This record gives sequence, C-alpha cells and structure tokens, in this order.
Amino acid sequence: MEVIAIAAVAKNGEIGKDNDLIWRLPADMKFFKESTFGHHIITGRKNYESIPERFRPLPGRVNVVLTRNEDYHVSGGEVVTSLESALDLAQNNGETEAFIIGGGEVYRLALESGKLTKMLITHVDASFEADTFFPKFDVSEWTTKVVAEYKADEKNAYDFTIVEYTKNQ
Ligand SMILES: NC(=O)c1ccc[n+]([C@@H]2O[C@H](COP(=O)([O-])OP(=O)(O)OC[C@H]3O[C@@H](n4cnc5c(N)ncnc54)[C@H](OP(=O)(O)O)[C@@H]3O)[C@@H](O)[C@H]2O)c1
Repeated sequence: MEVIAIAAVAKNGEIGKDNDLIWRLPADMKFFKESTFGHHIITGRKNYESIPERFRPLPGRVNVVLTRNEDYHVSGGEVVTSLESALDLAQNNGETEAFIIGGGEVYRLALESGKLTKMLITHVDASFEADTFFPKFDVSEWTTKVVAEYKADEKNAYDFTIVEYTKNQ
C-alpha cells in the first residue's frame, strides 16, 4: 500500500492559520478530490474539525480521524488513536493508496514514522502569515516529478506547481 501525504504548501512552509486554510485554489481542490477519491484519507482531529460540518465526512472516501481522545466519535467516519491503527485499518480494507491529509501535526507524525512512500505537494508561489507549517524534510531522500503547473487566473489567485515526491529506496 502506498502511503501518500497530500498538502498545499506556500513558500515558507505555511499550510494554515487559525485552524483554517489560508488561500482558496479551486484548481488545487479539484486535484485533491481527484487524487483522494475512493481512498482512505487520514486526518488529524483539528484538520477534520476545520472542514465545514456540511462537507464532512468528505464524500466518496473513508474518513479516518486521528485523536488521542478514545471517546471521540465521527458520524460516517472512523476514529483511531494512532497512525499505525489508521494504516492497519486501510490495509485491512484492501486499500492501495492511503492519503495523509494533514494538518501540520499529522504530516510531521507521518514523515517521522518513515511510513510515507510518496508526497503530493502543491507548492503555492506566495507567502502568507501562518501558524501551521509543513515539516521540513530532506529533499535528497526523495525523487521529484512535476505533475502540473498552473498560472494564476480569475478563480485561482496564485501560481502553483504540483510536485510528486517518491521516497528513494
Ligand atoms: N495546506 C494544506 O494542505 C493543509 C492540509 C490540512 C490541514 N491544513 C491546516 O492545518 C491546520 C491544522 O493542523 P494542526 O497541526 O493544528 O492539527 P492536526 O494535525 O490537524 O490535528 C492535530 C490533532 O491530531 C491528533 N493527534 C496528533 N498526533 C497524534 C498521535 N500521535 N496520536 C493520536 N492522535 C494524534 C490530536 O487530536 P486530539 O487533540 O483530539 O487528541 C491533535 O490535537 C489548519 O490550519 C488546517 O487548515 C492545511
């Protein structure tokens, strides 16, 4: 099973502020939906709660919420108390691609676990005020491939490039 972190990251590693996203890039949201659709998505409890209630659980995907709170309940989703349990759940369900969808704490956990096989990072060509960041990682451990490049337009305020990082063996 591939274990794939998917994130949109600005120039200084910014990913969020006040438990929300900082920018709206519909073309990137479309990429996120197409990439994750039909798969397990593993999210930190804070990121999950940042999704407006009417949009969660994200449809067409098994939403797996990571929390230390054993009494936490997610209607229409799964709750786990460790990354290992999240990955076991996906594996036991026959998943081929499990997506780690953030936020900052959970990206860090996933990177440090050594379990990530891939990352799909949307590099947003702008800087923002932020309180949550993608963890620093050693680029030399990964092989990169540009998946798509977008120029800002009337709906997407910033240029961005989607890069696939594959972990070197
Ligand atoms: N730009 C992007 O691509 C992107 C993507 C996703 C999120 N974000 C942003 O990221 C921010 C949220 O990130 P965050 O770092 O604050 O929070 P987070 O990673 O979404 O969630 C943190 C929570 O996950 C649970 N958790 C963490 N480590 C755990 C472990 N080892 N075992 C069990 N549970 C664990 C804990 O839940 P409990 O407190 O319930 O125990 C912890 O409080 C928001 O601003 C959001 O918009 C950005």
